[in-house]
Amino acid sequence: MTRVVIAGLGYVGLPLGIRAAQAGHQVVGYDVDATRVSLLAAGESYVEDVSSEDLQHTLAAGTFRPSAEPESCAGFDVAVIAAPTPLRDGLPDLSYIESAGRTLARYLRPGATVILESTSYPGTTQEHLLPLLEEGSGLVAGTDFRLGYSPERIDPGNQTWTLTTTPKIVSGIDGASLEAVQAFYDSIVERTVAVSSPREAELAKLIENTFRHVNIALINELAIFAHELGIDVWEAVDAASSKPFGFMPFTPGPGVGGHCLPIDPSYLSWHVERALGQNFRFVELANDINNHMPDYVVRRLMLALNRRGLAVNGSRILLLGLAYKKNTGDARESPAVRVADLLKRMGAEVRAADPHVVETTAVDTVVTRVSLTAGELSSADAVVLLTDHAAFDFGEISKRARYALDCRRVLGAGDNVETL
Ligand SMILES: NC(=O)c1ccc[n+]([C@@H]2O[C@H](COP(=O)([O-])OP(=O)(O)OC[C@H]3O[C@@H](n4cnc5c(N)ncnc54)[C@H](O)[C@@H]3O)[C@@H](O)[C@H]2O)c1
Repeated sequence: MTRVVIAGLGYVGLPLGIRAAQAGHQVVGYDVDATRVSLLAAGESYVEDVSSEDLQHTLAAGTFRPSAEPESCAGFDVAVIAAPTPLRDGLPDLSYIESAGRTLARYLRPGATVILESTSYPGTTQEHLLPLLEEGSGLVAGTDFRLGYSPERIDPGNQTWTLTTTPKIVSGIDGASLEAVQAFYDSIVERTVAVSSPREAELAKLIENTFRHVNIALINELAIFAHELGIDVWEAVDAASSKPFGFMPFTPGPGVGGHCLPIDPSYLSWHVERALGQNFRFVELANDINNHMPDYVVRRLMLALNRRGLAVNGSRILLLGLAYKKNTGDARESPAVRVADLLKRMGAEVRAADPHVVETTAVDTVVTRVSLTAGELSSADAVVLLTDHAAFDFGEISKRARYALDCRRVLGAGDNVETL
């Protein structure tokens, strides 16, 4: 039985910790957020992909122990860092990885393995984490302990491609490290894919996210032009998707959210600029287009109200969906927040329904939260469907709304419905 520490119990670390416990490891979940730790200790999961029942089973079996005490990390064989990597003033902020690394270094013993999962630019494992671990432990990487990188590919809410069924890229700073990292993940996922060093693994993750970011931007820009040209871009994407090779469909939307798309590609462009003095033009263009989609949504809404002799100022607007992704409660970097903010500043009365997003100060300073009822739908001057949660009754929305701007093409055709 391996003693495992997961440092950082968020969207990535918590599912990993529970899965490792289910696979027979003895897991300590370490997080600096004492409130999160208390919730977990009480058997309450705050991540959709982990059911409270599964959490409670591992707690009862004694195989998963959440803790906010650094000392709980003592004695690990394998430690995984799943700390956040946000942008601070537009620049990569590695401080959470660094502080988790410093904590683990104190308890690092000869023969143990440290794995980084947080998304970051190529070189993070070897140039940032490695010296930190050596300094804090007095041990030598490669000689005394193993070190590697394995990017997370979690897709919240995806029932088919889960942590277990999605192949996992693994890497190590040397052969023994790779072996140790691969052995750990082989015990918890169905398939591992080894690459030659952490840099390739770090870049692979950024390629995946940048690929999606750029392609979404491409289709978003096309959607704007196609609307002006009177062409149905959605139908065109469907038609293009009939090509069985060389094409992958992306659909327009109100912008990108979550962690992967708005933030991760900027780690790559920052690294390219710093290391080579060059601009990563694709990423910059994609950022520009995707970041402006909420403005486009508001412009379309303004034009629609204008046609009915109404102004945004004083209109009641009902937003449906605050999460950036359907059937999830994740409103981080969500374009819905920007749409709400723009409308509020223009004097609209903004109301919003989202059955998944818990009331948070970021959004709730701007919107009045409501439940989706027939009355809310019919009393709004306009409805904007931003997230296509399955919990929404799309037929009811198109039936009751005076006007609906459908950013996800789920409401069907109707005189009162316009698609983005
Ligand atoms: N959310 C996703 O879908 C997703 C997918 C792939 C990769 N990632 C990457 O995984 C990493 C983690 O993302 P997340 O979504 O799980 O973040 P999150 O914010 O949900 O969770 C991170 C957790 O780490 C904790 N933490 C911060 N500093 C710590 C420290 N020093 N020691 C221990 N715990 C600490 C925080 O309190 C928080 O609970 C990021 O680098 C992200 O880019 C996320």
